[in-house]
Amino acid sequence: MKKVFRFIISAGMMVSVAAMLFTSCTKEGPQGPAGPAGKDGTNGTDANSNCVQCHNWSDSLVTKIFQYDASQHATGSTTFEGTRKACAVCHTSQGYLENIVTNADTTAEAVYDAAPINCRTCHKIHKTYTNADWALTITTGFQPMYDKTITIDLAAEGGSSNLCARCHQARKTSPWLTNPTSITDSLKPTSNRWGPHHGTQGLILSGKGAFEIGAVPFGQTDHKSSLACSSCHQALAQGDLVGGHSLKMRNEEENIQNVAACKNCHTSATSFDVGGRQTEIAGMLQTLKVKLAVANMLDTNTMLLKTGKKYPQKQLAVFWNYLMIVEDRSLGVHNYMYTHDMLQSGLDYFSKLGN
Ligand code: HEC
Ligand code: HEC
Ligand code: HEC
Ligand code: HEC
Ligand code: HEC
Ligand code: HEC
Repeated sequence: MKKVFRFIISAGMMVSVAAMLFTSCTKEGPQGPAGPAGKDGTNGTDANSNCVQCHNWSDSLVTKIFQYDASQHATGSTTFEGTRKACAVCHTSQGYLENIVTNADTTAEAVYDAAPINCRTCHKIHKTYTNADWALTITTGFQPMYDKTITIDLAAEGGSSNLCARCHQARKTSPWLTNPTSITDSLKPTSNRWGPHHGTQGLILSGKGAFEIGAVPFGQTDHKSSLACSSCHQALAQGDLVGGHSLKMRNEEENIQNVAACKNCHTSATSFDVGGRQTEIAGMLQTLKVKLAVANMLDTNTMLLKTGKKYPQKQLAVFWNYLMIVEDRSLGVHNYMYTHDMLQSGLDYFSKLGN
């Protein structure tokens, strides 16, 4: 149903629907408010000519909707989480649009009639009823939830990554580490969900959000200065399998990796495993996982923290960093050096203990 309806509006039927709407509004009754500005910039009467900038016979809108419908934003089933104020800011469209105004970490109220993430969450659809409405809802930097005293600004490509990273960031956890390099100061988390939550990609790309527990500051592979999330995730589309508004990088069934996203710079890349770095990171991640399990800290069935005991703050920092990388899921592509150093500092922590 949904798809058929969408096809009809985008395939141009809209022109006549809009004509009907506007003529029937003006024939009878009191004069309505002035329509949106016309193509020539005049205030307006010529609403139809604006609508057809998007709702027309071309396939451009159809294509975007087709791709978008395959994305996890469209197919995911986490919108119901909006019934909690702490979740609505990232899991509902309304919550997000409230958050970009208030910059608060929660919505004022729970969102019950929630819309999933959709065109309007990211674009100013139907704000002026012109092509200008493709503008993004927000592109400016933001204060991340884990530390409201710093600003992250992913400014490449007009700042569109800020739009993504406002949701694809860690959540602050409790108790928070105030002394993350200490091996004597201990804390006892009560929740097995202690950690950064799921979407850490915006922080990893920024090179922020880890507890820097190494001898020297963690390194950075600088993709963020020249690439936005969309540079890679919206690269050359292949149907609705990868690229475009599917935002997908990989399709397992068809065995496609969208390396078109890499080839401008890594000209000989045939997979995402550029320089064998994903293989290396996957190996380190596995080794650290085993160490965390042997230390009786990680429950490998749930991938959650074992509670009920105290851990040195530094060990919790290792655990936080580990989960940041697990949840990032790019195996170093977003920021190889940072990812490497986060894992290496964890491995070093355990080897100093003789593990
Ligand atoms: C910037 C491009 C753009 C312009 C200009 C535009 N629309 Fe839309 N319209 C959209 C998009 C995108 C959707 C949502 C498609 C989806 O969610 O699948 C939409 C959806 C709709 C829908 C379906 C119901 C809804 O709100 O989702 C109607 C009706 C509609 N538009 C009418 C109009 C009319 C009338 C005008 C002119 C006054 C207009 N549109 C101008 C992009 C545009
Ligand atoms: C309003 C918050 C929000 C915004 C803005 C947002 N995302 Fe998401 N994103 C999510 C949520 C929530 C999910 C998981 C949805 C689900 O599973 O129900 C997700 C899922 C994804 C996935 C799929 C992950 C998987 O499991 O395959 C990708 C890729 C992604 N987002 C990339 C982006 C990019 C790129 C942008 C910016 C263009 C962006 N997101 C903007 C919240 C957001
Ligand atoms: C800062 C934004 C943000 C907040 C706040 C947030 N989430 Fe999420 N959540 C995300 C993103 C982004 C993803 C998708 C990450 C990915 O696919 O890599 C996600 C994914 C999920 C998933 C899917 C996990 C999976 O493995 O498929 C669940 C369930 C979820 N969140 C529940 C919640 C709940 C419950 C809350 C409130 C207590 C909440 N989220 C608050 C951003 C957020
Ligand atoms: C998660 C955020 C997000 C969602 C949801 C989203 N888009 Fe986009 N869209 C983007 C980004 C980012 C760009 C790249 C624009 C830029 O960098 O300025 C883009 C670009 C576009 C463009 C090209 C705009 C131009 O200026 O030429 C069109 C058309 C478009 N999107 C249509 C849609 C439609 C239709 C939907 C809903 C079916 C949709 N988008 C949903 C983030 C999103
Ligand atoms: C250099 C290109 C690049 C940039 C920039 C980039 N990503 Fe990715 N991202 C990837 C690749 C490649 C993968 C998948 C690796 C794999 O499947 O082996 C990935 C994985 C992901 C995933 C896990 C789900 C999936 O599709 O595999 C999410 C979610 C995600 N990225 C979101 C983001 C967000 C949000 C941003 C911006 C803050 C971003 N990415 C920036 C290349 C990029
Ligand atoms: C705009 C150019 C550009 C694009 C596009 C790009 N990269 Fe990169 N990448 C770089 C640069 C430059 C470096 C080295 C940066 C540094 O050393 O700080 C790099 C470094 C890397 C590294 C670390 C290599 C090492 O041995 O240190 C990996 C892995 C990587 N990129 C993977 C990818 C993947 C996978 C894609 C596509 C999804 C991609 N890159 C797209 C420019 C790009």
